[in-house]
Amino acid sequence: SRLFRIAIDGPGASGKSTTAKLLATKLGFGYIDSGAMFRAVTLKCQQQNIDLKDQEKVKQVAQSARISFPALDQVEMDGKDVSNLIRNSNITRNISHVASNMGVRDILADQQRAMAKGDIPGANSTGFEHNGRVVKGVVMDGRDIGTVILPDAELKVFIEADIKIRSKRRYDELKNKGALGSDTLQDVQKDLEARDLADRTRKVAPLLKAQDAIALDTSHLTIAQQVEKIYDMVYQRL
Ligand code: C5P
Repeated sequence: SRLFRIAIDGPGASGKSTTAKLLATKLGFGYIDSGAMFRAVTLKCQQQNIDLKDQEKVKQVAQSARISFPALDQVEMDGKDVSNLIRNSNITRNISHVASNMGVRDILADQQRAMAKGDIPGANSTGFEHNGRVVKGVVMDGRDIGTVILPDAELKVFIEADIKIRSKRRYDELKNKGALGSDTLQDVQKDLEARDLADRTRKVAPLLKAQDAIALDTSHLTIAQQVEKIYDMVYQRL
């Protein structure tokens, strides 16, 4: 069988993870949410009252954290389900300290590359048959997957969307979850812009379109259309 790795990068609320999950299901591939790993490390630091600016301590936390993906929509850390906890705005607002920590990135990069090879149960895939051959694979989304983590991925997609549209999507998502609090649409947009700026301008592994990535603007696409477009890209490359 052959291995087909799909790297999906892009800014926050661009529809990466929703698209990646549906695509993985459709292809019978594993899905790895790299952002969830940075979120889990941030959560563990907060639980242990560790100063996020203390690079050495935060790195040690990353080293000790056992992060896994037992199911498509599930994230586990140290044996506990943290799927909902890591989406807290307290995490999102402070994550850039962890994401710009080189030691943390190195540790998570090793784990992400191992998972992409299928070494970790959560990333196991059954794949699909094509011309009498089984194609197995993985969909990984994040900020630096196509540039740093899997520079030789079989397919790289860079998702973009208008900031107003991304803000509205994130606002609706938080509202539906009952996690909006007292935030207005403007607050959500401000948070997204601040996180994008931090992701794009940090020194280590900034958010950047890989040269050989295909740009996909999802501003005026439905989720189903996004999935279909990337699905077609996969078949064009088989
Ligand atoms: O994708 P998600 O919004 O969950 O990512 C949360 C944050 O984790 C990002 O804003 C970014 O700072 C960091 N991240 C990263 N590299 C990745 C994935 C996420 O730095 N590959």
